[in-house]
This record gives sequence, C-alpha cells and structure tokens, in this order.
Amino acid sequence: MTTQDALKKQAAEKAVEYLESGMVVGLGSGSTATFAIHAIARLMKEGKLKDIVGIPSSTPTEEVARSLGIPLVGFEEQAVIDVTIDGADEVDPDLNLIKGGGGALLREKVVAQATKKNIIIVDESKISDKLGTIFALPVEVVPFATAAETRYLESLGAKVTVRQNQLGKAFKTDNHNRILDADFGPMDDAVKIGAALSQRAGVVEHGLFLGTTALVIVAGADGIREMKAAG
Ligand code: A5P
Repeated sequence: MTTQDALKKQAAEKAVEYLESGMVVGLGSGSTATFAIHAIARLMKEGKLKDIVGIPSSTPTEEVARSLGIPLVGFEEQAVIDVTIDGADEVDPDLNLIKGGGGALLREKVVAQATKKNIIIVDESKISDKLGTIFALPVEVVPFATAAETRYLESLGAKVTVRQNQLGKAFKTDNHNRILDADFGPMDDAVKIGAALSQRAGVVEHGLFLGTTALVIVAGADGIREMKAAG
C-alpha cells in the first residue's frame, strides 16, 4: 500500500467510529470512500455495527458494497440518510469542497443533500486555501450541450477539457452525461461560480459542494485531525 493509501485508510477508519447500529449510511465514491466501505463491512461482520443499510452514490460503489454484503436501499425506502462518508478532491478551510474526480458528483450531491451529517475523508494533499488551486472543477453536462457549455465556462475564465475515458473516448457518467473539467485556478468567489453554473440549462450539476459538510477528517504525516463546521 502506498503512503497516500495508508493515510486514506486511516481517515476512513476514523470516520466509521461515527456510525451507530441502525443507521442509514450514505456510501461515497472513490478510493478513500472505498476504504470506509470495507471498514463498514468488517464492523458488520464483527457484530459491532448492526442493522445498517447503505445508499450508494455511484455504480462502482454499489458493486463494492454488494460484494461485501452491505444491505442497500434507495430513496424509495429511505428519505433521510443519517451519516454519509465520502471523499473529496479539494477541501478549503470553510469545509467547502470540489468533488467529481471520479465523475460521480451528481449522485454524490443528491446523497449529500439528503444527509443529516456529511463526513468527508481525505489525506492532507487535498487541503488548500482556495478551491481550484489543486483541482479543476468537474461540471456534468448533457451531451447535447457539451460545446455550448464549454464556451460558457471559457467565457467565465476557465480552461476547459472534455474528460476522456481510458480508451480516449468521451467519459460517460452513471447518468449518461459528459464531464467538463474547468480549470478556474484559485477561486475568489466559489459561490458566484456555482450560481453561474446552476442557471445553465445544459449543466446538470457541478462539483462545488458548498456548505454541505459537517466534518472533515484529514490524515497526514503528523496524524489525524478533524475540521468541524462552525455552529
Ligand atoms: C468521485 O466523483 C469524487 O467526488 C471522489 O469523492 C473524489 O474524486 C475523491 O476520490 P479519491 O478518494 O479516489 O481521491
């Protein structure tokens, strides 16, 4: 395991301490969240967590959770999620996030918005003073609007790349949309950028998660620290 993976795992192991038997748990996406899913499955097998049901935030997460025997439900059965544990691509001091490096931002945001307590787990490389410093903003668009929304993002000052898959074809999300990776550089006003994107018909969702996070668990060389939302 790489040092970075070891840190991701440490953050995940800390996060599952916040879970209690009987909870509805949102299952995040990406490599860090996957460590948490494994930890949840282990605690269930050991009998330390009982009557857990999960709501997955992507197809790969659903597959991992199923393979580990975690019971899954949908929003038809459960309206509210008690705790969601998810990763992030970048975190600022106010617990605002960029997400979507894996392309799952839409379902991740639906899950986050239905959750009472969102816990984000990261290694220290994800922390920055201003969003956009270390990661371009993923924007999910309907295929028809790819060129139009690329131009729109450029008009806002971003350098835009249409995300490709490993075969060099356009990346397709779980919802059959495209991802535009919009490099704004460090953002002085992420709220304004988010609002500008939300009003666009061709934009399905963007990867700015503003004000949704209660707790960030950061694992670094000096140990684990917690960043808590004010209030
Ligand atoms: C998935 O779309 C993302 O939002 C992930 O949560 C994010 O990319 C973090 O992934 P890693 O834990 O693999 O870095």
